[in-house]
Amino acid sequence: MARSGTVAVIGAGFYGSTTAQRLAEYDLFDTVVLTDIIEGRPEGLALDMNQSRPVEGFETRIVGQTTGQDGSGYEAIAGSDIVVITAGLSRKPGMSRMDLIEVNARIVRQVAENVARHAPDAVVIVVSNPLDEMTALTQIATGFPRHRVMGQAGMLDTARFTSFVVEELAVPVSSVRTLTLGSHGDTMVPVPSACTVNGTPLTDLLPADKIEALVTRTRNGGAEVLALLKTGSAYYAPSAAAARMARAVREDSGAVLPVCAWVDGEYGISGVYLGVTAELGRQGVRRVVHTELTDSELAELRKAADAVRAKQADVHHL
Ligand code: LAC
Repeated sequence: MARSGTVAVIGAGFYGSTTAQRLAEYDLFDTVVLTDIIEGRPEGLALDMNQSRPVEGFETRIVGQTTGQDGSGYEAIAGSDIVVITAGLSRKPGMSRMDLIEVNARIVRQVAENVARHAPDAVVIVVSNPLDEMTALTQIATGFPRHRVMGQAGMLDTARFTSFVVEELAVPVSSVRTLTLGSHGDTMVPVPSACTVNGTPLTDLLPADKIEALVTRTRNGGAEVLALLKTGSAYYAPSAAAARMARAVREDSGAVLPVCAWVDGEYGISGVYLGVTAELGRQGVRRVVHTELTDSELAELRKAADAVRAKQADVHHL
């Protein structure tokens, strides 16, 4: 595929900067724009990343741009086809993602308004926490059609689930398929019935209590990393997931990925941004793809939808 277009990454913390570097290394975009409110940080990181081009052999150029409270600097994202919003605080050990809702809502709302102003045709991928609520807020604040706003979480949670199964059974990564739906929080819904190893159901390979332990570890996957790092949350696996979503949009690939998407009727659930599998393309979410669930998994997903819908109603006022 010919190199073209611009992807912008808002927020140059570890999550944003690793996402930017991954996107640049795909060598699919003309330009990756990286912004931050910390004076000089995005410019410095861009300079550094550009100097990796001769080593890694990619042509994509990275542009760093400091932005101001007044929205200055956002001209740099003009014409972006895709915008990844990573702005906001990350958790400290002991915090839940929901503890960030007020502070990050202020930040994400302001970012979203600037994105709407300067990149009105972009597909937006949100990664700021609490994820499901910040995705809903971004759609409200941009006024973009819902299919053009989605959140990254399911790919990350699924990758964690997969990697725990890989470790448990000592099998190749490529042999394992797992799935998580629901929220990127307390009502995450790992879906053991959809998990396989070389096509064999996980439920035939591990006893129920072992699977339950892996599910619990998946639900706490972010907190486990956070407790070890102490200074901030995970970013290698999260940025890999966000970059892959952007790539599916860029390539108009039709890849079916677990993402936070607007759900309107599927699974008997309506009117909520929720973790589901969806087909991605140039316009964002082409459609939500239904996965067969057991009765208890479906009940959990509906419970997650109710919890997330209630919280998403709050973001209107934040
Ligand atoms: C995590 C954060 C990024 O799950 O939400 O690591």
